[in-house]
Amino acid sequence: MSDPIRHLQSLLPPHNTRHESATAYAPANIALCKYWGKRDSRLKLPVTGSLSVSLGAHGTRMTLRRAEADTLVLNGEAVDPGTATFRRLFAFLDLIRDPAHRLTINSHNTIPIAAGLASSASAFACAVKALEALYGWDLPPQLRSILARLGSGSASRSVFDGFVEWHAGSAPDGMDSFAEPVAPVWPEFRIGILTVSEAPKPVGSTEAMERTVRTAPLYTAWPAQVAHDLPRIRQAVLDRDFETLGQTAEHNALAMHATMIASWPPVIYWLPETTDHLHAVHRLRAEGLPVYATLDAGPNLKLLYTAEAGNDLKAAFPQLIQIEHTPAP
Ligand code: PMV
Repeated sequence: MSDPIRHLQSLLPPHNTRHESATAYAPANIALCKYWGKRDSRLKLPVTGSLSVSLGAHGTRMTLRRAEADTLVLNGEAVDPGTATFRRLFAFLDLIRDPAHRLTINSHNTIPIAAGLASSASAFACAVKALEALYGWDLPPQLRSILARLGSGSASRSVFDGFVEWHAGSAPDGMDSFAEPVAPVWPEFRIGILTVSEAPKPVGSTEAMERTVRTAPLYTAWPAQVAHDLPRIRQAVLDRDFETLGQTAEHNALAMHATMIASWPPVIYWLPETTDHLHAVHRLRAEGLPVYATLDAGPNLKLLYTAEAGNDLKAAFPQLIQIEHTPAP
């Protein structure tokens, strides 16, 4: 097998220099059935499939400009070239751009800062789209998703709006591991962000994922959990069956956290407020309010509900940031 990354590069059209600059946008996404664990860390190939909802107007807007030297401005602030953020982004661009081209990047997150959702997913998906616009390409959507995946696994899903499934694939070169839209937006569907802490995570998601796969005996149960949850969530999205979607998504997220807690050294992202909020969600549900929670690699909760529960939830959690997932205009 030729090197899979070289093979991908051979599929790219020529790097033309017609445009001096280009701007693109990609939404953040929240997984309803999580991606947790890689079978290939260089190609970012997942152990299982996953399914997410993109966050519409909440994501990353990025402008690339041809320049003499690489520079990065993130939310208005210059980023030092020695930082991991800078190095990771440019190492990723090096996979796709003409090696002779230098770029200034101006990147802006349109997600509320307090939401703690400034994820790598929208940034890497947006970087692919911006390079595509800069070089005047129109890549096949599957290739766009595969390229974004090389930046961060969850970025493979952020190249689409609405509900999106990332197929695990089985090919060693990852050419069958890309995301595809499952269903368009569900206008009444809401995501609510309950921020517990904006502090940097004690363990990054890449390390946490790797540690779980390597040390948690419980991880062997994870593929079976996904095999159960993913088709249910996909069908619930298609049927707009909120109860099945919410129940399955919450169960999936808690099972993912169980595998992290069972790793060594343990990865416990939860803070006391995380469990307080989770219990409050369960109390509201027991009182008849259809609301479920999901959590990613951090202590913050994302509530899943439909528009009619919005006022009750705002009363219960005044700090709730309510997000619709209609695409950015
Ligand atoms: O794509 P990464 O490496 O940032 O990992 C994302 C992992 C989770 O957010 C916890 C789950 C997911 O599917 O997005």
